[in-house]
Amino acid sequence: MIKLTSETLFSNELLKEIRERFAYIDIDPLTQKKRLFFDNAGGSFRLKSANEKFAQLDLIPNCPMRDHEVSKYLTKVEQKGLNDARVIFNAKNGSIATYYTASQAIFGITGVIAENVEGTNIVTTTLEHPSAFDAAKFYADKLGKEFRVAQTNPVTGGVDVEEITKLIDDNTCLLSVIYASNISGAILDIETIVKEARKIKPDLYIVVDAVQHAPHGIIDIEKTPVDAMNFAPYKFFGVRGSGIAYLSDRAAKLPHHRLFGTDDGNLQLGSSAPGHFASVSEIVDYVCWIGSNFSNEEDRRSLFEEGMKRISLHERSLLEIMLDGTDKVKGLRNIPGVTVHLDYDDLSKRDLIVAISIDHLDFQEAVSQYEAENVIVYDRVASSIYSKRMLESFRMEGAIRISPLHCNRVDEIEEFLEITQKIVDRNAK
Ligand SMILES: Cc1ncc(COP(=O)(O)O)c(C=O)c1O
Repeated sequence: MIKLTSETLFSNELLKEIRERFAYIDIDPLTQKKRLFFDNAGGSFRLKSANEKFAQLDLIPNCPMRDHEVSKYLTKVEQKGLNDARVIFNAKNGSIATYYTASQAIFGITGVIAENVEGTNIVTTTLEHPSAFDAAKFYADKLGKEFRVAQTNPVTGGVDVEEITKLIDDNTCLLSVIYASNISGAILDIETIVKEARKIKPDLYIVVDAVQHAPHGIIDIEKTPVDAMNFAPYKFFGVRGSGIAYLSDRAAKLPHHRLFGTDDGNLQLGSSAPGHFASVSEIVDYVCWIGSNFSNEEDRRSLFEEGMKRISLHERSLLEIMLDGTDKVKGLRNIPGVTVHLDYDDLSKRDLIVAISIDHLDFQEAVSQYEAENVIVYDRVASSIYSKRMLESFRMEGAIRISPLHCNRVDEIEEFLEITQKIVDRNAK
């Protein structure tokens, strides 16, 4: 029964404009054949403008730190990108720091906190991406701190608040927790986790990996006052080659690798490509443009929030159709031979990711069969370090991960469901 779709899907006109802004939205870049790209959790559709701006700026040889007009322009581009990263995080204080990848961001920040903040244990969850989990473990082992790991909930696909808070005490140095899972799509209740954890230890340092969630929902440092949060522009409609983090004032003041003589809280280390900052501004411009179709607000954060809200509503509708189908086609929940894993009913607590398996078909073979039908999905298997721990925690052998994006149309989800039915029929015994 579809409840959400008519009020929450983008109109056809708006969706057409949205799609024009993205590259390779339904075309294979090599063969130029029509395709469905449903692996956005591995790297999302790219905004053409983010890449164009990046390329234009990267052609300019000038160094930003000069008194020439072009240099001043590049400095402005960088400053605007940093301010726009603040818009994404809703960060009114603290610092923005850029790294080569989101993994480097979380490794570096985890290390600085672990090495400089008192406490004999570090708490994390079994759902973390290896970048956060291994960083927490690496520094716990190095510094002789106890490493505590909260377990997942196989019903929600997430981690319950109490599972985390029961591991926190006065001696906790750091809590490192993921915002949403890149395997189950489950969104953790970060607001409550922060509140409850700080009831136990009011000055607890908290780091949040928002790489999966940031492109699908609103993140807000004012509501979740943590010490660090990161995202990856290439999973957020932008370009590959940078990871961006917010740090609270106190986290920024810890002894990071930094150049002496720069302002307190300035964590920029070396000459970043101005194009990366421009591409962040393009992401924010784009989301604000979506927001402006629904709101007369002028404030950039308000428009950004409205845009992200609309993105998440459209995606929730697509998720509902993927699971329950339409009058034309059966949803994944109703195709005999398909198992939907971690299929929590409350879709407001899930990003647009679905994990399935198909009877009599191993995961890699399933991905190949989808590719033969011009559909790109991804297999999460226990032989990969990026999946093993999380899958084992859910007692799953693997899954086919399906991750469309807000620029997908209902008919594309229907086409995917028809192809799934075909694959199931072909492999039935
Ligand atoms: C949830 C999550 N966190 C962190 C990362 C790390 O991002 P990167 O590989 O760009 O450093 C990823 C990448 O897949 C991710 O999905």
